[in-house]
Amino acid sequence: MILNLESHAKLNNGVEIPRLGLGVYQSPPGKTTERAVSYALKIGYRHVDTAYLYGNESDVGKALHESGVSREEVFITTKVWNSDQGYNTTLQACERSLRRLGLAYVDLYLIHWTVQGRSIETWKAMVQLLQEGKARAIGVSNYTIVDLKEILQNSDDVIVVPAVDQLEFHPFLYQRELLQFCKKNSIHLEAYSPLTRGKRLDHQTIVAIAKKYGKTPAQVLIRWSLQHDAVVIPKSIHEERIRENSHVFDFQLEPDDMKLLDSLNENLQTVFLD
Ligand SMILES: NC(=O)c1ccc[n+]([C@@H]2O[C@H](COP(=O)([O-])OP(=O)(O)OC[C@H]3O[C@@H](n4cnc5c(N)ncnc54)[C@H](OP(=O)(O)O)[C@@H]3O)[C@@H](O)[C@H]2O)c1
Repeated sequence: MILNLESHAKLNNGVEIPRLGLGVYQSPPGKTTERAVSYALKIGYRHVDTAYLYGNESDVGKALHESGVSREEVFITTKVWNSDQGYNTTLQACERSLRRLGLAYVDLYLIHWTVQGRSIETWKAMVQLLQEGKARAIGVSNYTIVDLKEILQNSDDVIVVPAVDQLEFHPFLYQRELLQFCKKNSIHLEAYSPLTRGKRLDHQTIVAIAKKYGKTPAQVLIRWSLQHDAVVIPKSIHEERIRENSHVFDFQLEPDDMKLLDSLNENLQTVFLD
């Protein structure tokens, strides 16, 4: 699998998404996020993942506008939060996010979490935003197979299949069945918390594999997701780590090591450890 920082995956509507992006969850609003995004863009990242919830959309926008990188070259994702779900409220939430980002459109707009009873109305608004050009692609996040089926099977209303399901995905939460379901339905898996938020970076198997390839544990985890064909969005506010996390294209995990990593699954959901 030959990849580099410019490698893209093609979404189900033809839009191309860079395989590696910078996540900014818990990246403090203001100068910290602005500096992290500026640095990432400077060293070649072309994909940033934010959300209304993160409170730093305007800092992402500022860094982008001051970077000198053209809008078309950068892929920006943001998300509609639970309390804004519903038809009109989703449309309005997107407008507010665009204003904060200082953008006319986002590249990917996601439903952040499923909210029971609101999925279909919210999805209709997402489709509207796609048709209006406010988002180049639309998708979901934290959706299970059941949640995805609700959208896919609502055949009266559904005209667009989600381009992406953004999920927690790493060897300790290897969501194999969901990955396969997504593949079968042309939904691209995006791996969030790919570094387990630091919770398993010192796991002995990860450390041993890292040593074997002359890489760091973080690089091994990112590479594992890439080799499962996921788009990956590690977060860091530190320049040396942002750089380290991008140096994942000069090695390839052998099939036996992929299998070993696959076997580490323990259904660890770090997203619920906050
Ligand atoms: N859709 C959703 O519900 C959802 C949920 C969670 C996350 N996400 C997205 O996915 C992105 C990534 O997930 P995440 O932020 O939860 O976790 P993560 O990327 O797995 O881990 C981030 C943590 O690892 C540290 N770190 C980064 N690079 C490192 C390295 N090379 N070596 C050691 N430690 C390193 C970071 O610290 P420093 O920053 O101090 O370097 C931070 O504490 C988020 O930022 C967000 O964009 C989405």
